[in-house]
Amino acid sequence: MTLQTIILAAGQGIRMRSSLPKVLHKIGGKSLLAHAYDLAMQLGDNSVNVIYGHGGNQVLAALGELKTEWTEQKEQLGTGHAVMQVAGWIDDASTVLILYGDVPLLKLETVNKLVGYADKKGMGLLTVDLHDPTGYGRIVRNESGNVVSIVEEKDATQGQRKIREANTGILAVNGELLKGWLNRLTNLNAQGEYYLTDIIALAVADGVYVHTTQPADETEVMGINNRMQLAQIERAYQMRHALALMERGISLLDPARFDLRGEIESNGQDVEIDVNVILEGKIKLGNRVKIGPNVVIKDSQIHDDTEIFANTVIESAIIGQGCRIGPFARIRPESNLGENAHIGNFVEIKKTSVGRGSKINHLSYIGDAIVGTGVNVGAGTITCNYDGANKHLTIIEDGAFIGSDTQLVAPVKVGRNATIGAGSTITKDAPQGELTLSRCKQVTIPGWQRPVKKKV
Ligand code: UD1
Ligand code: MG
Repeated sequence: MTLQTIILAAGQGIRMRSSLPKVLHKIGGKSLLAHAYDLAMQLGDNSVNVIYGHGGNQVLAALGELKTEWTEQKEQLGTGHAVMQVAGWIDDASTVLILYGDVPLLKLETVNKLVGYADKKGMGLLTVDLHDPTGYGRIVRNESGNVVSIVEEKDATQGQRKIREANTGILAVNGELLKGWLNRLTNLNAQGEYYLTDIIALAVADGVYVHTTQPADETEVMGINNRMQLAQIERAYQMRHALALMERGISLLDPARFDLRGEIESNGQDVEIDVNVILEGKIKLGNRVKIGPNVVIKDSQIHDDTEIFANTVIESAIIGQGCRIGPFARIRPESNLGENAHIGNFVEIKKTSVGRGSKINHLSYIGDAIVGTGVNVGAGTITCNYDGANKHLTIIEDGAFIGSDTQLVAPVKVGRNATIGAGSTITKDAPQGELTLSRCKQVTIPGWQRPVKKKV
């Protein structure tokens, strides 16, 4: 059996009140449509076709690189009409899975069950019992409990509106059967739309059994129509991931105050994450890594026993073992910190490698630099790496000591075990092992008086 997945994503999403097409809004840092697409890709041998409409150019510009067919539905005449757009693409022998582009939390296990039901004699329909099913299509069953049809709320009788089993819209069906039923859909209903849901009654009429399954919990099938639902589903997504991380051995001081906008590719044991931490992109965390409150880390690796203190921001960096970073530090892309490096408060590091045991503890900017091992960079040290047109390299060799408030005007090199006197502006290489300083001689003017205010 081959699988073909159709993702319905042509709807406008008026209630988002946004210039962005609905399916480009994000959950966990990833667009709604990409969530549906990634789920489809997890199903293995599968070809995907996305039905797009509103904001099509924006959707293609943002997600054009996905390995999917794109089919435009110029006018949105209903879910059945949307699927009709790709009738020619559907193979008779395949199982067709219908997903919605605005339902991001659906789980693989749930979809796999549905797909398992689809053959020549049966199809799979995902339904959900809702406390308040207002707005949803209702699942109509006969006395034996078998599904006979779906009725949309606007077409439903008073009695049918009392049914709490709702249609999620997600279904799996044999390709040949589906195409036959699509040909027979009409738009003779309250909304004048071609309802995909009408294939259920056609299936039953043709003797095809409609198997149903329900999601593990309601959030799996929740769709997003407005920003309130976007926020709600974001929280549900975050809680799901927080619980999964705790199962993997990561302590979250408060799972409700943790945000993952990407993935933790690997983690060691006894990682501790304090509140309001945001992890973005691809992250690796070693054993016993501790992350303090309000820390943001993006696309980085943090090795064993490193501690990141409060309010630190780290992006595209590799932080070695046993480092201490922050509080209030900023590590920018292409930085690489060796074992036991210390980066303290109000220090910005950019495109810099810092060797083992080196310390940059206070109020410094070190950019485009290579810092050796055992270096001490004093408070207020600045690499002047930019001449207004180009960036230049600063090299600080092993064991050097940079006095406080030093400017290192790049390109420049400070030799091994060299010492730079505080307050220096270093424009030429400083030789190894020597003290170099550039500083005016201190003078005292005896008897000098402060000016006093004139009396009028
Ligand atoms: C649909 C179902 C309803 C179900 C509900 C679940 C039909 C007729 N009704 O209703 O039984 O309870 O979903 O949320 O199928 N779309 C297109 N092109 C269109 C119309 C819709 O691509 O012409 C897409 C939308 O972008 C969306 C999905 O199909 O992703 C569902 O459309 P929506 O308008 O939300 O369907 P409902 O009327 O809510
Ligand atoms: Mg609708």
